[in-house]
Amino acid sequence: IKRITTHTLQEMKNRGEKIAMLTAYDYSMAAIVDNAGMDVILVGDSASNVMAGHETTLPITLDQMIYHASSVVRAAKRALVIVDLPFGSYQGNSKEALSSAIRIMKESGAHGIKLEGGVEIAESVSRILTAGIPVMGHLGLTPQSIYKFGTYTVRAKEEAEAAKLKEDAKKLEELGCFGVVLEKIPAKLAKEVSESLHIPTIGIGAGQHCDGQVLVIHDMLGINKGFKPRFLRQYADLFDVMNNAIGNYVTDVKAKSFPSEKEEY
Ligand code: KIV
Ligand code: NA
Repeated sequence: IKRITTHTLQEMKNRGEKIAMLTAYDYSMAAIVDNAGMDVILVGDSASNVMAGHETTLPITLDQMIYHASSVVRAAKRALVIVDLPFGSYQGNSKEALSSAIRIMKESGAHGIKLEGGVEIAESVSRILTAGIPVMGHLGLTPQSIYKFGTYTVRAKEEAEAAKLKEDAKKLEELGCFGVVLEKIPAKLAKEVSESLHIPTIGIGAGQHCDGQVLVIHDMLGINKGFKPRFLRQYADLFDVMNNAIGNYVTDVKAKSFPSEKEEY
């Protein structure tokens, strides 16, 4: 199988082929995601929420991200594996950002990193790129800034924030990012950014005009039962499927119908 690279993604945008991206955090799930034909697997810091049960993405550490990433890398035969730099591992200064990115690349074997922000982190982005590490940007609703925003609602609805986002996107492209995630912004703005950039945009809650789409796997498989924002399409009801299966197992054990004679040695 031919590995997807950042160049493949650029070629996909050039010929108008959409890019499919999905998160994964462990070996078994990543193997399914890769097998299903995913172009990009994102080891998102959403692991903080869906894997560790934290309320925000802020608590997850660089070591924990490396653990998730190395598990995913072992499973991904075709997909490009991109890893989030967690909160606190790159905002301090560009040297710290580079050493965090290097740790991810070296210790997990991933193919690139993603970080949140625009012009504020320009120096860090270019320093990481100078080391030959592919960088993906992330603009709009950037969950590591949730305490600044105060809410998870749509970003850049007002002209000032929209103008800043367009400026940030341009900057990330100029610096040499291979793509940028646009999270929870108006479709019209995402369309404008996608058309003005040469590099691919990957949307989540950003409408149909982005060059690709990304979702959190627990959300789209219906494992995360309570979370049903407008942008989410749920492709399965795994909470119910798993709950029924596990409930049946409990029932069988209690009823002494498992294990049966056929299931013993
Ligand atoms: O952490 C994550 O899962 C993400 C995607 C939602 C883009 O950053
Ligand atoms: Na993230």
